[in-house]
Amino acid sequence: MKKWLIGLALVCSVTTVDAQGKKGIVAGPMMGQVELRTAKIWLEAGEDAKTVAVKYWKKGNPASANTRSFSFDAMAEFKPMQVEIGGLDFNTTYEYTILYNNKDLKQGGEFTTKDLWQWRKPAPDFSFLTGSCNYVNEPPFDRPGKPYGGDSSIFATMAKDKAAFMLWLGDNWYTREVDYASEWGMWYRASHDRSAPIMQSLLKAMPQFAIWDDHDYGPNDMGTTFHLRETAREVFKQYWANPSYGYDGKGIYTKFSYSDVDFFLLDDRTWRSEDRMPSNIYGQPNPEKRMLGVEQMNWLKQSLLYSNATFKVIVVGSQVLNPVSPFDKLANFPVEYNELMGFLEDQKVNGVMFLTGDRHHSEVIKVDRTNNYPLYDITVSPLTSGTHKFGGPEKDNPYRVFGLDQKQNYGRISVSGARGERKFTVAFVGVGGEALGEWSVSEKELKSR
Ligand SMILES: [Fe+2]
Repeated sequence: MKKWLIGLALVCSVTTVDAQGKKGIVAGPMMGQVELRTAKIWLEAGEDAKTVAVKYWKKGNPASANTRSFSFDAMAEFKPMQVEIGGLDFNTTYEYTILYNNKDLKQGGEFTTKDLWQWRKPAPDFSFLTGSCNYVNEPPFDRPGKPYGGDSSIFATMAKDKAAFMLWLGDNWYTREVDYASEWGMWYRASHDRSAPIMQSLLKAMPQFAIWDDHDYGPNDMGTTFHLRETAREVFKQYWANPSYGYDGKGIYTKFSYSDVDFFLLDDRTWRSEDRMPSNIYGQPNPEKRMLGVEQMNWLKQSLLYSNATFKVIVVGSQVLNPVSPFDKLANFPVEYNELMGFLEDQKVNGVMFLTGDRHHSEVIKVDRTNNYPLYDITVSPLTSGTHKFGGPEKDNPYRVFGLDQKQNYGRISVSGARGERKFTVAFVGVGGEALGEWSVSEKELKSR
């Protein structure tokens, strides 16, 4: 009985941490999308927030400062908020600070707007960071036994790795039984993980873009049947400062560009059929089994046709190609898989690659095509959650041209080179910054014959 009481006291004391009862800035400031003349800044405020504003100025010229207020619901328990600053000059560094209840908390930072290179100079070289699967431990609510979350100092390493932005590939946090059964739980988990102190320097160091996969959407492998999917979307919208979030109030897919690369950020959950639905019926692909849904697939195809980018990176929470994986992949949804592959073949879209997460290992999968350039699926995982060992049919996967298992890691992707000779290099980096391997492809290798 006494033990039970101590246990209860422990649980109570843990649940009072985080946004509840906290004063001042709970998480952030975090940089969201930064463009030529705009920058999004995100933060989560504590319960005492009455007014929150960002004061910003051109670096070295504080006399030129302007202020923009965040709008938020002061009565809400969780107070994530974001503001878009406009009227900025391109290729210019700004400094900012947060005014919290009219007091300067000295918790600002700096950001640099994009350069206007179009029609003026060659596409700039740049690097970005990427990764998936981040489990933040919270023992009273986690599974018993060895903590699932590994060494979170990987985020401190990433914060020091100078890059144009960080692209989160899903499972960016893990909702658990205590989280995904209620709306409050969904907000709680996002807030809890976002406020992890080790994460803060990365959030501030560079713009953050994200998609989701099952665990930050809801329960394991969950899709369209999730009864809290609208809450999941609202939480995602409030915790990421992406360019946009789906269309017509549904989904979270979006697109952004950096230099001569377009990124198509897909939503593999909102429209996803149950994984157990048969992929084939009477020997034919099951037309009812979809992962992206009709509208999003149409959007993707049209957007690929519109794009003139050297590299067109299709970003998805779970793998797309891996022909031998017994796990999650678009290929398990043959109607959509065939539709997308047929489209890429017929339309001869150049420069397409897939960038995916979820697997708890990293690899590059290559699938040859008969009349076209090969397709690559670059998987980067995990940042902090449990690691996976290549086994079963994937032990010596013949489609794998690069593999890295049993290691926490992130990707540092660099795009460089003269016009017509651009190169896309993926460096896999360990917790302390150690080089774990590299793979690259050139634009010439991704051209239709
Ligand atoms: Fe996942």
